[in-house]
Amino acid sequence: PYVIAAACIDVMDRSCVEECPVDCIYEGDRKLYINPAECIDCGACEPACPVQAISQDRRVPEDQAAFVADNARFFSHP
Ligand code: SF4
Ligand code: F3S
Repeated sequence: PYVIAAACIDVMDRSCVEECPVDCIYEGDRKLYINPAECIDCGACEPACPVQAISQDRRVPEDQAAFVADNARFFSHP
């Protein structure tokens, strides 16, 4: 799945939400989150983000690996 990392924090442009064909991008308090169980890996959201916050999980830069875990946590509780 694709993952939204640090650059989204307090920017929350939301262009990605409009591009997602399965509506799997959800709002958190300071950034948005992609539900890994719903993302179909289409890649449409990645170029839509003006701050390049989105990338495929296996291409997330090492210093942003925490965001993959944070993302999983966001969807692990109701
Ligand atoms: Fe939605 Fe496609 Fe982005 Fe996944 S890769 S979040 S399905 S737009
Ligand atoms: Fe955030 Fe970029 Fe989407 S700033 S809300 S990931 S378009």
